[in-house]
Amino acid sequence: MTEKTFVAVAKVDEIAPGAKKLVQVNGTGVLVCHTKDRFFAVENLCSHAEEPLDCGRMRAGWIACPVHGARFDLETGAAMNPPATQPIRTFAVRVTGDDIEVAV
Ligand code: FES
Repeated sequence: MTEKTFVAVAKVDEIAPGAKKLVQVNGTGVLVCHTKDRFFAVENLCSHAEEPLDCGRMRAGWIACPVHGARFDLETGAAMNPPATQPIRTFAVRVTGDDIEVAV
């Protein structure tokens, strides 16, 4: 197994609790989400009709697709309600100093 490479994508204070930021890592759109106690990173792509998620509503632990309202668990990527049935991709996140790093 190859070790994942973490890439710094933002500073901790750039993404307030309840906010999210869209970044590009190796050509992949990654949404870094700050829920009240931690950061999550998911691909900015709904598994239903491949629409972007970055304008979606986010609450503790999930993000909703703005197009048809499917919600996804930010930790596992699992679809929580229709019309999506497939998960979205999730990525490992860590905080090093004041950098938020993501492994894609
Ligand atoms: S494109 Fe996201 S729920 Fe349909």
